[in-house]
Amino acid sequence: MVEGYECEIKDMSLHEFGRKELDIAQVEMPGLMALRDEFKDAPPLKGAKISGSLHMTIQTAALIETCHSLGAELRWCSCNIYSTQDHAAAAIAKAQTAAVFAWKNESLEEYWECTLKMLTWPDCDGPDILIDDGGDATLLMHEGEKYELEFEKNGTLPDPQSTNNREMQQVLRIIRRELENGNTKKWGKMLNNLKGVSEETTTGVARLDQMSLKGELRLKCINVNDCVTKQKFDNVYGCRHSLPDGLMRATDVMIAGKQVVICGFGDVGKGCAQAMKAQGSRVVVVEVDPICALQAAMEGYEVKRLESILTTGDIFITATGNKGIIMAHHMAQMKNNAIVGNIGHFDNEIDMDGLDNYPGIKPMNVKEQVDRYEFPDGHGIIVLAQGRLLNLGCATGHPSFVMSCSFTNQVLAQIELWKEKDSDEKYQRGKVYVLPKHLDEKVARLHLASLNAELTELSTEQADYICVPQAGPFKKDAYRY
Ligand SMILES: NC(=O)c1ccc[n+]([C@@H]2O[C@H](COP(=O)([O-])OP(=O)(O)OC[C@H]3O[C@@H](n4cnc5c(N)ncnc54)[C@H](O)[C@@H]3O)[C@@H](O)[C@H]2O)c1
Repeated sequence: MVEGYECEIKDMSLHEFGRKELDIAQVEMPGLMALRDEFKDAPPLKGAKISGSLHMTIQTAALIETCHSLGAELRWCSCNIYSTQDHAAAAIAKAQTAAVFAWKNESLEEYWECTLKMLTWPDCDGPDILIDDGGDATLLMHEGEKYELEFEKNGTLPDPQSTNNREMQQVLRIIRRELENGNTKKWGKMLNNLKGVSEETTTGVARLDQMSLKGELRLKCINVNDCVTKQKFDNVYGCRHSLPDGLMRATDVMIAGKQVVICGFGDVGKGCAQAMKAQGSRVVVVEVDPICALQAAMEGYEVKRLESILTTGDIFITATGNKGIIMAHHMAQMKNNAIVGNIGHFDNEIDMDGLDNYPGIKPMNVKEQVDRYEFPDGHGIIVLAQGRLLNLGCATGHPSFVMSCSFTNQVLAQIELWKEKDSDEKYQRGKVYVLPKHLDEKVARLHLASLNAELTELSTEQADYICVPQAGPFKKDAYRY
């Protein structure tokens, strides 16, 4: 170890395994590798301190090392307590391409301590740019500043017991401790110093949008989720791959013939439904949006209310990004050994608190990330990853190729934020932006050759006829793909 290098991981001896998988992954990540090549002579992230809160997997290791090769220094943690691949964290720690604070099966307390360490840079106010997935790091900084201002006004400290939300209890505990230790300007300074954040997922973007609407957002933000080459690829094809992967690794249940209930038919739900249909299951969709409900029906899925299929469903998957979707009283009515899992970002889609506190409930751990809950009448249900996203808890998340699309957008967003660090013209604090379409098309283009896809070129006459530039962008911003 080089002196001064920090990391907290499970097992450094896994580094060789991690490196082997990382080497293989890179071949499947042509977008990231093309950026390394394109910018090798003039690294565009030179001097940037990047903090990242994003599942510490092999694919993320390739993202980290791309940013590193483009000149950045990095600190990293995971954005989920179950999603770290310990060999990926070890490979990064061994190479020291980021200071990494992550391991599989963190407690909530450890998770938030890792988030704090990822944000806390030695000898300066904090990171220059942030990569966030789900908005937890952004939340910690903003809550921190809010309580610093309160403390300055009247000496009030946050009370972790003022909320029942176990995550918020940890957030408040950390903010309180920093204030008690005399760090009374930490978060405000950090927000002032930060040149921006690029956010990875639907739920994180929803949080940013809400903060922006309320006038509470203090950062320049790039919404990476809504890049077409992220949203319509990672969310759809990634989940199409990793939902069955998670289900099979966790339970090895035969999916064919089963009734699979998908709650939410957005991008993630569409990928999930396709995968389950391809396995030969009978898919039922639960939706609130009439357009998505009609889409589901036109794809040949049944569309029902959850209440109508509680007693017949074999597998229930939540993919809404909303809260309170499957409640304890729903689970009590399910058939014996029905499987319940979530693939949305947070663990509040399934009422785990209600289940844990159900009168007479008997939880039994089957294996890591698989628990059977037996109700007093003797029937039980199987819950995956304690209601946290099962594709990362029970499996290894999305495969490299699709993550290359998402992460190429992440790197482009980071380059944009760093390039515009001294100007408020293109990106303003408090607002959320998407990358321009020509970059989205560039990301797709970088992935075609490795699939032997031949792209047809427009003639000038054809380009004029449909009123688009010959080299793109080929669609208006509002086009839905
Ligand atoms: N696990 C992963 O790898 C992964 C990958 C990408 C996104 N995500 C997460 O998955 C979630 C869904 O993302 P998305 O991009 O599909 O979002 P989306 O907005 O496209 O889809 C969500 C759908 O859920 C529906 N919905 C909302 N409330 C509902 C309710 N009460 N009952 C039924 N349906 C309801 C909405 O109408 C919408 O169609 C988000 O939390 C996102 O962050 C997870």
